[in-house]
Amino acid sequence: MIPITRPFVREEEAEAAANAVRSGWLSQGARVQEFEAALADYVGAKHAIATSNCTTALHLALLAAGVGPGDEVICPSFSFIATANAIVHAGATPVFVDIDAETYNVQPALMEAAITPRTKVLMPVDQIGLAADVPAVLAIARDHGLKVVEDAAPSLGAAVGEARVGSLADFTCFSFHPRKSITTGEGGMITTADDAAAAKLRRIRSHGASTSDLARHASGTTEIEEYRELGYNYRMTDIQGAIGAVQMGRLEHILGERRRLAARYNALLKGDPRLSTPVVPAGHRHTYQSYCIRLKSPRPRAAIMADMAAKGIATRRGVMAIHLEPYYRERCPGLRLPVTEAAAAETLLLPLFAEMTEAEQDVVVDELKRALG
Ligand SMILES: Cc1ncc(COP(=O)(O)O)c(C=O)c1O
Repeated sequence: MIPITRPFVREEEAEAAANAVRSGWLSQGARVQEFEAALADYVGAKHAIATSNCTTALHLALLAAGVGPGDEVICPSFSFIATANAIVHAGATPVFVDIDAETYNVQPALMEAAITPRTKVLMPVDQIGLAADVPAVLAIARDHGLKVVEDAAPSLGAAVGEARVGSLADFTCFSFHPRKSITTGEGGMITTADDAAAAKLRRIRSHGASTSDLARHASGTTEIEEYRELGYNYRMTDIQGAIGAVQMGRLEHILGERRRLAARYNALLKGDPRLSTPVVPAGHRHTYQSYCIRLKSPRPRAAIMADMAAKGIATRRGVMAIHLEPYYRERCPGLRLPVTEAAAAETLLLPLFAEMTEAEQDVVVDELKRALG
């Protein structure tokens, strides 16, 4: 079986997790802090705040950006459902706009056109590992007095020019699910340059407590914390933090291998009229969460996927159109986003992971060409 992905983890991660267990400190502590510091340093952010996953990171970032009931947040529909769910969790309404047909990322001009007096935040998504045009989204947000929360779940290591994702927006949220750049099993991280927001994020990820367990223990006093605001339990464990700190050291290798294999897919599939390969705008660095092709074959996508599954090759539909999922369809009846809907119907993800062999990749390409008919 050739899986859609395989996390790149070794004995070092197992040992780091075991050491956290043996230490007796398993909940959020010094190892999470170490992971946060490594990630902040890597992306060039002032603060990094770890969370239990990216969905909770997005929820907290929206709250820190001031989002609440009655507000609107503008985002693409071409994304994983969690993008919109986090907005609903914050009490606000997602306003879906269409994407660019080539990059599959949100069109900044459509975000601007959708701004109303209720808009609080613009939320671009760096889809499949390619950063959205965040500089353009930020310029629009500044003109209208709005904040930008970037959903960078699959995009740790992506860059726009010299700037790494995580250093651009007011808040950037990453995921460490096993399909992402690096993994901690489950996990998330928010980066920001805003000192007050970072302090609030640290409190509300941990019930709203005025001080953390780690700080209380380190103080050596009998200080008692206070709860002045509503918080959540969205903490990462130190077992995950320990794994994340090791994974940070592997990030560049993982992404280098993924980019090498993506370039090889490009070369093997180039010129085939039955599909198109990913478009990467000049100056962008892609993380290739998966390799996303656009099908132009008359054969239905389901038949192509079934043929490949029969040969032991996992594939996935590209990305969903959130506004067509029943929960959201009822909430935005009649909404049509033609570019999103076409992309959701015609895209297909092929296996791509750092340890994929060229022989495995050749099998994927051969079977794909056969399945395309
Ligand atoms: C674009 C996007 N946003 C949010 C998420 C949610 O991440 P998590 O599973 O860490 O909550 C994902 C996960 O697949 C995603 O792809």
